[in-house]
Amino acid sequence: MTEPAPSFSRLSVLSGLWQGIWPKKPSFLPDQYPDLTGISAVVTGANAGIGYEVIKLLYEKNCDVIAVVRSELKGKESREKILSEVNGSCGSIEVVSGCDFLDLSTVKPAAEKIKVLLSDRPLGVIIHNAGLMAPNSQGTSEQGFEAMFSVNVLGPQLLQHFLDPIFLKKDVDLKRIVWVSSAAHLYGFREYGINWENPTFKDVSVNRRPHYQILYGQSKAANVLQANAWAVKNQQAVDDIGCVSVSCFPGVLYTQLVRDWGFFTNKLMPLLTYGGIYGAYTELYSALSPDLTRKDQGAYTVPFGQIGEPRADIKAGMCNGSDLKLWDIVEDIISDYF
Ligand SMILES: NC(=O)c1ccc[n+]([C@@H]2O[C@H](COP(=O)([O-])OP(=O)(O)OC[C@H]3O[C@@H](n4cnc5c(N)ncnc54)[C@H](OP(=O)(O)O)[C@@H]3O)[C@@H](O)[C@H]2O)c1
Repeated sequence: MTEPAPSFSRLSVLSGLWQGIWPKKPSFLPDQYPDLTGISAVVTGANAGIGYEVIKLLYEKNCDVIAVVRSELKGKESREKILSEVNGSCGSIEVVSGCDFLDLSTVKPAAEKIKVLLSDRPLGVIIHNAGLMAPNSQGTSEQGFEAMFSVNVLGPQLLQHFLDPIFLKKDVDLKRIVWVSSAAHLYGFREYGINWENPTFKDVSVNRRPHYQILYGQSKAANVLQANAWAVKNQQAVDDIGCVSVSCFPGVLYTQLVRDWGFFTNKLMPLLTYGGIYGAYTELYSALSPDLTRKDQGAYTVPFGQIGEPRADIKAGMCNGSDLKLWDIVEDIISDYF
């Protein structure tokens, strides 16, 4: 049973959005990143937008990057581009393709490929970056789930399920998971951001679903809750190993996320917003900054690299077990694909 959610102020919603429109300068830049020789990182959605910039910056720091994508062609093109532009790295970029979070049956084969590629190499960083923001509510996954919930919530938790045995090892000091959220979590449903009766909107016809912004908001609220829930669920191992799991609002950025938004948005966005690299600064602050320690479990980071505050009810949900409730609901759904 979830406790009734505390109220949240509309002003906090405005100030949360303001952080995206008027962000602080990046606080943690590539020249401050540690050398990542011998450390592997798994990054989803690595062929475009923020994910592409993230893997490039990781590779520049000698990281062994596993770029998880759905299209082999796009993944390989991105890899080739980075290899041609970055000289002198002793890291690597390997592409695991075919991982489509709109079809949960593709996640396990992708995870098997990651395990083979990693072999005994230490996995230090996981960035659940892949994301979908559909400009209409028409998307439905192969398994009949609302598309944004499938891509942004079910897929990452399923992938994490397969990565846990490899990640939860005492091998390297750096152990971070970043669940990429958004200020759009502020638009989620009234009770902790989640439509608890049926978060996947399975068996709800498309024209009876809420507006896409609320559905996207729900998925991004779920990411905030997942960051904390993962740490609580794995508390013993997390304490022993020193893992930190956080959610991250990368910024308001011009990437392919708005590709379906039409001509005017695509002309205006580059003038009004920052490029994807700035989102990479926020994600890599979350993944690499020594400022974040075990006491920051479940923290919500904001542009372009600082700890922020999620919506008040969602923050409360991380203390009263609503995060664990969501985790269990998702676990129940994805267990068919274990
Ligand atoms: N851009 C912003 O202003 C902003 C703001 C807040 C939060 N975010 C979050 O930041 C993350 C990255 O977004 P972005 O702006 O870089 O967007 P983007 O340029 O559209 O890149 C999204 C990435 O996710 C992948 N992806 C989409 N659907 C997928 C699926 N079904 N299965 C697996 N991968 C899939 C895409 O692969 P394909 O190329 O194959 O489609 C692409 O690699 C997302 O989680 C997004 O919600 C972005």
